[in-house]
Amino acid sequence: MTTPCLRLVTPDDADELAAVYVENREFLAPWEPVREDEFFESDSQRAAIERMLDEHAADRMVPFVILGPAGEIAGRLTLNNVVRGAFQSASVGYWVREDLNGRGLATRAAREAVDHAFTALGLHRLEAGTLLHNVASQTVLRRAGFAPFAVAPEYLRIAGRWQDHLLFHAFAPSPRP
Ligand SMILES: CC(C)(COP(=O)(O)OP(=O)(O)OC[C@H]1O[C@@H](n2cnc3c(N)ncnc32)[C@H](O)[C@@H]1OP(=O)(O)O)[C@@H](O)C(=O)NCCC(=O)NCCS
Repeated sequence: MTTPCLRLVTPDDADELAAVYVENREFLAPWEPVREDEFFESDSQRAAIERMLDEHAADRMVPFVILGPAGEIAGRLTLNNVVRGAFQSASVGYWVREDLNGRGLATRAAREAVDHAFTALGLHRLEAGTLLHNVASQTVLRRAGFAPFAVAPEYLRIAGRWQDHLLFHAFAPSPRP
């Protein structure tokens, strides 16, 4: 059995996470909202992690870190906007640090997240959106069982501009009759 590459973030990750964000600031900038300088400080990361763990306790999100080959923080994967009731759906977002790209880590993490969402969380559906030109991320999603279903105009403000996104979804396996 392979070791899981996802675990829940903890406040003790704040220093390492801040360092990884600093190291990858330019790499991530085209794919993320604009980040203020404060975002890259350990204290700010610790406060954000604590807020996310509160949201996790309320069943509204699952903030994971992606682990690299030596157990280091290689990136993040978050299940956001968990909605229960008749929807049973959540959104997936992730990144992997530049020096550990191309080793299949995002694909493994996305597959683990799908499994977690449809077994442990009992969700019915996952959604993810990529920029139209983010072919690497689209490859990751397809490999994890997602299919594209729509183009959403001006969907998210990424790198300072409202940008169109290709939306993907994945569904829990149907129960056997
Ligand atoms: C997208 C991202 C998560 C991929 O992480 P990763 O760990 O390198 O992904 P994987 O190794 O599992 O798979 C990526 C695949 O896309 C391919 N790929 C990478 N760049 C590509 C490109 N520009 N065009 C086409 N394919 C590309 C890789 O070669 C790999 O396929 P392979 O295994 O056949 O070689 C990472 O590059 C990243 O964090 N990017 C910035 C943030 C981001 O885009 N997040 C997702 C937002 S939707």
